[in-house]
Amino acid sequence: MKNSTWSGRFKKGLDEDVLEFSESVSVDHLLFDCDIKVCIAHAEMLGECKIITKRESITLIKGLKAVQKKYDSGKLSLSIKYEDVHMNIEQALTKEVGDLGKKIHMGRSRNDLVATDFRLYLRESSTLIIDKLRDIRYALAVASYNNSETIFPGYTHLQLAQPVTFGHHLLAWHDMLARDEQRMEQTKDRLNILPLGSAALSGTPYNINRKTVAKKLGFKSVSTNSMDSVSDRDFVCDFAYTCSMVMMHLSRMSEELVFWMNTHIKLVDIDEAFCTGSSIMPQKKNPDVPELIRGKSAAVIGSLSSLFVLLKGLPLTYNRDLQEDKTIMLEALESVTSCLNLMPRLISTMKVNKDRALAFSKQDFSNATDLADYLSMKGVPFRTSHEIVGNIVKYAESKKISLNEIPLGIFKKFSSSITKDVYDAIDIEKSIHSKKALGSTSPSNVKKQAKKILVSLKPYGYVQI
Ligand code: ARG
Repeated sequence: MKNSTWSGRFKKGLDEDVLEFSESVSVDHLLFDCDIKVCIAHAEMLGECKIITKRESITLIKGLKAVQKKYDSGKLSLSIKYEDVHMNIEQALTKEVGDLGKKIHMGRSRNDLVATDFRLYLRESSTLIIDKLRDIRYALAVASYNNSETIFPGYTHLQLAQPVTFGHHLLAWHDMLARDEQRMEQTKDRLNILPLGSAALSGTPYNINRKTVAKKLGFKSVSTNSMDSVSDRDFVCDFAYTCSMVMMHLSRMSEELVFWMNTHIKLVDIDEAFCTGSSIMPQKKNPDVPELIRGKSAAVIGSLSSLFVLLKGLPLTYNRDLQEDKTIMLEALESVTSCLNLMPRLISTMKVNKDRALAFSKQDFSNATDLADYLSMKGVPFRTSHEIVGNIVKYAESKKISLNEIPLGIFKKFSSSITKDVYDAIDIEKSIHSKKALGSTSPSNVKKQAKKILVSLKPYGYVQI
């Protein structure tokens, strides 16, 4: 089959199998809207710079808008016959406006076009991801506010360490995602550079104005080297890295949800709508959504390695290998957005079992550090306090009692600094309320921090509580 856009020097048509093998329209059709926007900006500039006439420019733009309309209404379907979305659009444009359509490719090539379209697409995707991250942050801030007093076991090494407030735990999740949001803003900023006008690799002799194209498309600057412009995919790696971080965080959150849902733990219950049953065991309620989020993170994180491997051996400038960047990234992007979509409702509908959380929090001498802090506040050096409390714990363990059940007389045998106010210091609720240093777990801190987040989200239209 002959491809009219580049087949001039060929005697034979492209092998059917090769055509199927090499087409990218099945993936890059997603770039359709971006390609039209880029083509319109380019056609406008060609007219402004008098490379084509004003009239021709207007006709091209009208034609491109008509192509978009046809595509949106299902009247235009893309064909692998034209390889990729760019050539499909050029073909459709030429059908729309006649031979003039063939002028659209002056001063550009598909190499800079695809790089431009993809930057634009990822820029729009980053805005979408940022919005979705905000939705989750909002859900977390609300849930934290409502759980600022809920006592919850805090772990290190997955062993009970110290009680925290559940709100504090959720705010830890929040902060991970706040970093992701910031990282995505930076990624978006970094990719916002226009490669168009670099043409195939060496630039162009036409008197084009790349700066106006950048302005029209909202790019903050233009690339400075045509060879780098057409072969650079750092922006895709940046994007994949940022997405990987998002997924790594969602996966960690999911892992905790799965753990909390465990039959023996039952600290948190996620809504039935996010669980499935078993085809054989009638009693089962499985946390499939968090499991799938944890699972989907694998391919997204993998996309970063795939991109590095794709790029690491490529000589300058454009190589067809680069076409694979879209398959890798767009699939990963689909996973990220689907996970981000579910997270806000997963969070806002989950229920924490407060009684169990409190009971668990009191187990296993989780207030031992409070006792050591108490001694140190009375002037005992911390290392010494640590040792004394170690001995007290050993004693309590042998008597099978908790620290709160040790009589004052016995306490005094371990340290004369202990007086009757010790019982307040090791009371879990009281101790949590006393942790007021910046970033600590006290309910008042959590409430304040959750409120601060909610207020910061107000300009985006989130309802305040
Ligand atoms: N479909 C191609 C891609 O995604 C567009 C660029 C093609 N350039 C070329 N010289 N064959 O990379």
